[in-house]
Amino acid sequence: MGKMIIVSNRLPISSTERGDKSVVQILAGEYASGLLNQLDKEEYLWFGWPGVAVAEAEERAEMIVSLKEKGMVPIFMDQKEAEQFYDGFCNETLWPTYHYFTQYIAFDDDLWEVYKKINDRYCQAILKKAKAGDTVWIHDYHLLLLPQMLKEQMPELKIGFFQHIPFPSYEIFRVLPWRKEILEGMCGADLVGFNTYDDMRHFLSSVGRILGYNHEAGYIHTPHHLVNVDSFPLGVNYNKFREAAESKEVCELVHQYKHELGSQKLVLTSDRLDYSKGLLQRLRAFDLLIDNHPEYLEKVSMVMIVMPSRTTVPEYMDLKEKIDTLVGRINSKYSTLDWVPIHYFYRRLSFHELVAYYRISSVALVTPLRDGMNLVCKEFIASRTNGDGVLVLSEMAGASKELQEAIIVNPNNIKMMEQAIYAALNSPIEEQQKRMESMQKTVRKYDVYHWSKIFLSSLDRVVQKQQKLKSR
Ligand code: F6P
Repeated sequence: MGKMIIVSNRLPISSTERGDKSVVQILAGEYASGLLNQLDKEEYLWFGWPGVAVAEAEERAEMIVSLKEKGMVPIFMDQKEAEQFYDGFCNETLWPTYHYFTQYIAFDDDLWEVYKKINDRYCQAILKKAKAGDTVWIHDYHLLLLPQMLKEQMPELKIGFFQHIPFPSYEIFRVLPWRKEILEGMCGADLVGFNTYDDMRHFLSSVGRILGYNHEAGYIHTPHHLVNVDSFPLGVNYNKFREAAESKEVCELVHQYKHELGSQKLVLTSDRLDYSKGLLQRLRAFDLLIDNHPEYLEKVSMVMIVMPSRTTVPEYMDLKEKIDTLVGRINSKYSTLDWVPIHYFYRRLSFHELVAYYRISSVALVTPLRDGMNLVCKEFIASRTNGDGVLVLSEMAGASKELQEAIIVNPNNIKMMEQAIYAALNSPIEEQQKRMESMQKTVRKYDVYHWSKIFLSSLDRVVQKQQKLKSR
């Protein structure tokens, strides 16, 4: 059996500058922790960017050695490349296109050239370590050209590609001058996976209309090979959140927060700072709630956790200003000496602090304008050890397809969101428990392990199908 090769833009580590050196630490976030636990049982390699520009050859060499024992291979970029690849083509071209923010798209051939160059850098690094029969699982929009690059040079690799963000409708996708190359790049994989059926449908429609390839029952017949396309909704590490929610550390924090907040009810919102997350709309809905229901003054507050992200991209800097201003305006309008309507944290909280907030909040407001999946809502559900709590969820998040027992809202409709928060705060306990139990069942069953297992078994299946077709 061949080895497993995981490829993602970032390695699952956090790199921090200490003095003039970068110090790396394993990060247990998102899908990475699930994959790492699973991979521990077999031989694996993980290729990715360490998240910081490491310029010195000596420092690069040290990092290669320290990551080697963890099965990780760093792909380096200098400062300029990171700006043009990560900030540039990935987050100023692809990200806004795929999230339907066409007004933000940068159309720049220089950025495209760097995107190709970095995808090729990944390809060359992988080819040095890969053998025929190995499985390569590529993640996300940073590496859309890599499947084809690898397939052309080593056709015997089993290649899976999973896109974590949405795939837009053809009418949006077609605006990209490089649309053909991007689709050809993705079609180099044997299996292409998305979070939802709708993303998969949009992709197939673009493949048909732009590349002219036919598809039938989720299989694309390219001139080179058979490609399977399917949806695999990403899950969370349910048990990790469950255990943390019951841990001594979190129980102590819960006790402390409750003591500080008294009988106040909390509406929680936690996300990266990103225009796709609809953070201003969440604030406006909460403002309207307090305005319409003065009885909530000093009784209900919002905990707003905003994680810094892509801080050098202009649209993100601009949004930060707008959030700061709006939070300030709302707080100055309603605050009293011993109460503020919005507790605003612009930083990453520790894992235990986050889980403590999941536990003590009555309502989670998860209302992105567009989101591939959104794992915050699943983490909230997993952490509700008491079996109560209400989720207000955007219909634009991939998770809404699975979590139908949430109160589903259109995040552009501020009035609807305000009414949903009101309904959530007043939901009878039996109703909360009934809905929460059902959502917990879903989130527990379809966790991150289930996701990786079904993705990898589908990859095996399509490769077997290709072999059967060849032997006919
Ligand atoms: O959800 C999409 C995604 O790109 C993830 O792959 C990533 O972990 C997350 O957003 C954060 O993005 P970044 O790596 O740009 O901080």
